[in-house]
Amino acid sequence: MTRIRKAVFPVAGLGTRFLPATKAMPKEMLTVVDRPVIQHVVDEAREAGIEHFVFVTGRNKSVIEDHFDKQVELEATLTERSKSAELAELAASLPGPGQTSYTRQQAPLGLGHAVWCAREIVGNEPFALLLPDMVMQDTPGCLKQMLDAHAGLEAPANLIATEEVAEDRTHQYGIVAVGEDVGDAFRVTGMVEKPAPGTAPSNLIISGRYILQPEIFDLLARQQAGAGGEIQLTDAMIQLAERQPFYGYRFGGRSFDCGSKIGFLSANVALALARDDIAPEFRDALKDLLKN
Ligand code: UTP
Repeated sequence: MTRIRKAVFPVAGLGTRFLPATKAMPKEMLTVVDRPVIQHVVDEAREAGIEHFVFVTGRNKSVIEDHFDKQVELEATLTERSKSAELAELAASLPGPGQTSYTRQQAPLGLGHAVWCAREIVGNEPFALLLPDMVMQDTPGCLKQMLDAHAGLEAPANLIATEEVAEDRTHQYGIVAVGEDVGDAFRVTGMVEKPAPGTAPSNLIISGRYILQPEIFDLLARQQAGAGGEIQLTDAMIQLAERQPFYGYRFGGRSFDCGSKIGFLSANVALALARDDIAPEFRDALKDLLKN
């Protein structure tokens, strides 16, 4: 069994759906309750035992690098003011020295291209890929569940998280075709990106968490631009599935597409309601709002 040590976070997209908020600030830094979206996703990876965090960034994204660094002046001020809870919070959210790497995508040519940009840092080992747009809510987290399932599969195995959606929404997503169950996973017998209405092979969407073998990089290198003029990850995964075992994992928790306004707002409400320190007061505030 190969241990998955590295995780890739593609954060080079333009975030046009959140303009003007994302004009000067990356959408991954929008906050869900009191931490940036990217922090939620990095925390999920840390909980799963990931040791190295690879960010594929772009223009205007250096604030992400600052976020995952020590803020010496801030910490000195908090120490002076005996703000130990805040200091502990900062320390808990910080990967250790040497545990982060950053590379630039240079041009937003699509998710597949962003992943390919991480090839030298990932090297020749299987890795996790987490789309920071997707905030997943469950205990343990989605990636931890997937790594446990992956450990039970014969190597080399690729494993992607999937979730059910209503049949009339399948045309908006990448969809998998479902084969037999293997351990806690199922065999993926096909994948299609945004199928025409009524043609989807299932109602299981590819939902933003992946464990991939390094052979994906060579396949990405050969990709031509696909749907939307972008280099698509799904196209390379379809080819990988012809060469290596490819499995799906049914994620049973809640997920929020924070790249969309409704998903982002829902994530804020759901995660606030899950917090003991906020929920009681927030529940009352929500009731009030809904009443009027
Ligand atoms: P999206 O297509 O949802 O992100 O990509 P976007 O392009 O930033 O958003 P909109 O549609 O303009 O609002 C999913 C993930 O892939 C990353 C994005 O940062 C996001 O986390 N991505 C996408 C890249 O890193 N590079 C790209 O070229 C495209």
